[in-house]
Amino acid sequence: MSARPYVEPVVPIGPEPSDEPSVIRADHLEVGYRDRVIWSDASFEVRRGEFVAVIGPNGAGKTTLFRMMLGLQRPLRGTLSVLGRSPRRGNPLIGYVPQRHSIDIDTHIDCESFVRLGVSGTRWGPGLARRAEHEAAAAALESVGATDLAHACVGTLSGGELQRIFLAEAMIGHPEMLLLDEPLSNLDLRRSRDLVALVSRLVRSRNVTTLLVAHDINPLIQCLDKVIYIANGRMATGSPDTVLTSETLSALYGVPVEVLRDSRNNLVIVGGEESGGGEHG
Ligand SMILES: Nc1ncnc2c1ncn2[C@@H]1O[C@H](COP(=O)(O)OP(=O)(O)OP(=O)(O)O)[C@@H](O)[C@H]1O
Ligand SMILES: [Mg+2]
Repeated sequence: MSARPYVEPVVPIGPEPSDEPSVIRADHLEVGYRDRVIWSDASFEVRRGEFVAVIGPNGAGKTTLFRMMLGLQRPLRGTLSVLGRSPRRGNPLIGYVPQRHSIDIDTHIDCESFVRLGVSGTRWGPGLARRAEHEAAAAALESVGATDLAHACVGTLSGGELQRIFLAEAMIGHPEMLLLDEPLSNLDLRRSRDLVALVSRLVRSRNVTTLLVAHDINPLIQCLDKVIYIANGRMATGSPDTVLTSETLSALYGVPVEVLRDSRNNLVIVGGEESGGGEHG
């Protein structure tokens, strides 16, 4: 009997996202402030474990979309379901990194204490709290490769380090969903790619559904399952291949838009801003 050669088993990264249940379902959503509509008629679905980019010009309503998912903003019309129910404030299953984090650069708090703020007093009884929080913070810091920053002062961190700490704070409660609002905005290309690779690893290894707002799609595009593109008061959603085309974006903006490749094979989106109410970063 001849021995079979040993073959490394193929371990799937996880089930195909398309087989997963939907965690966000929007049906003809419309949002606005007072009597001003920001965007309308948005219907889309995000499945568990998907990594989704939210793209669009300044003022298009990207942060507003996150505010709705966090239960901070109510739709004017339509319905939104997040993790199987209507959005509610303070949902511990959602880790959120806001666009503007209220960090005072003079603050003397160290990273471990900062990350602990993500759970302190909310999860464990008083007897267990300190030790459990310490262990949770250490695990969250490790998950973003920032164990060595535990005792560094948050006020002294570089932009890239700070974003990793914000991510650790968002991860500490083992969320099922992450909402990251422009985490790449102050990072150079290399740090942007590093952060995207880190987020992508978290998405794939923990099946955390993640929406990330960005102005430049290029550092993200290889890792994405889906794009939500908001412009001109409307939304286009789908795979990057279907949304980031001249045809889809021209229809969205209502004026000719060209999606081109530059000499480094980066996507460049030309046109559309006249009707989009802002500019791409
Ligand atoms: N609380 C509010 N009251 C009234 N209008 C608001 C409020 N918050 C946001 N807006 C308006 O809603 C529109 C969308 O804002 P939002 O912050 O969602 O845009 P954005 O796409 O995140 O933009 P940016 O890329 O600049 O962050 C803007 O015109 C903004 O002025
Ligand atoms: Mg915003």
